[in-house]
Amino acid sequence: QRIVVVISGSGSNLQAIIDACAAGPFPGQVVGVLSNKADAFGLTRARNAGIEAVAVVPESGEARADYDRRLAAEVEQMQADLVVLAGYMRILSPGFVQQFQGKMVNIHPSLLPRYPGLNTHQRALDNGDREHGCSVHFVTEELDGGPVILQAKVPVFEDDSESTLAERVHTQEHRIYPLVVKWYCEGRLSMSDNQACLDGTAL
Ligand code: GRF
Repeated sequence: QRIVVVISGSGSNLQAIIDACAAGPFPGQVVGVLSNKADAFGLTRARNAGIEAVAVVPESGEARADYDRRLAAEVEQMQADLVVLAGYMRILSPGFVQQFQGKMVNIHPSLLPRYPGLNTHQRALDNGDREHGCSVHFVTEELDGGPVILQAKVPVFEDDSESTLAERVHTQEHRIYPLVVKWYCEGRLSMSDNQACLDGTAL
């Protein structure tokens, strides 16, 4: 299976997926990495691994739908079977989401449906949550609202700061994201009626 990863930043989740593919046996490979930021470190990670890495930078005044059509053209060019959003910090237009519906996943640093959007770690701390975590989900038009595939929980400690909590969550992201990508590449994951299925059973 041909995996295309779309990023905006550091790409530590991208790295975890590249490493999992290399460790094998893994029925997929990262064939391309796309970023909306030309200086995203994830592009360097990709090139270091011998993977095609392309920055698709928004032009000033470019409409979102136009940008997304350019991004989609790159994804199609790479012949993606699976699109993996890994720290991609732009909202996708409905057209893009529909084009890759059922074959696009995202990782979000909260226990969805809690805390869609930004600043999830600080929001969990502000609310005094005892438990926090991350979620991998299929991407639908609702922001961070698609059906959840897998979550990992972490404890929140009294003396946690945003960064200590973020680091604990990140460690779990690097564990669960490659696992979900593997399931998808094995043909075990699907989405229908806004529901994720593993081995034909609703999750
Ligand atoms: C992760 O926390 C992910 O949950 C969020 O963006 C961050 C990306 O981190 N969507 P990295 O670029 O993979 O290191």
